[in-house]
Amino acid sequence: MDRDAFDTIMASLDAPVAIVTTAAGDERAGCLIGFHSQASIHPRRHAIWLSKANHTYRVSLMATHLALHFLTNGDRDLAELFGTHSGDDIDKFASCGWQPSDVGPPLLTRCEHRLLLKRMTVLDDGSDHVCLVGEPVASTTAGSFDPLRLSDVDDLVAGHTVDERPLPPTERATD
Ligand SMILES: Cc1cc2nc3c(=O)[nH]c(=O)nc-3n(C[C@H](O)[C@H](O)[C@H](O)COP(=O)(O)O)c2cc1C
Repeated sequence: MDRDAFDTIMASLDAPVAIVTTAAGDERAGCLIGFHSQASIHPRRHAIWLSKANHTYRVSLMATHLALHFLTNGDRDLAELFGTHSGDDIDKFASCGWQPSDVGPPLLTRCEHRLLLKRMTVLDDGSDHVCLVGEPVASTTAGSFDPLRLSDVDDLVAGHTVDERPLPPTERATD
């Protein structure tokens, strides 16, 4: 497999970035993501992929709902807050405006384009990210918008790198 060709195709797509938030009990979590997509039309579904290294992934496994906040050009500071720091180390919600939702996930006040997703399916194919498919139970927008994209934030260094996840046995065996 030509990894360079794969990476060139993905970079050309220049995906919009978003912040996913979730909560379980008193624990809140959220991180920046580039891996997400609509995944069904009837019924509507949206899929997101979370790194097994992330605090947000661990909290999402205990949560019933996720909120997906789509970012615009004025939101680079939020992308930096949620993409370069980990909830393992800091409380990101102490540094931004948010309000609780009825079903758990904190809603970021500034982000007016968002989906509230009920977690339906968790799919782990053994790779470093896990797919969570959600049913939209609420959608909010102020109209069409220009999303903040991966190319706008490609200088950010992720708070957790994917190799910080616990290694699966197949990879431990090759060490
Ligand atoms: C541009 C960019 C894109 C990212 N895309 C994803 C993604 O699709 N899924 C994911 O789980 N993490 C992604 N991350 C990494 C997390 O946002 C980052 O590791 C974050 O600090 C994790 O926070 P947490 O430990 O509080 O969950 C991305 C980071 C950056 C900078």
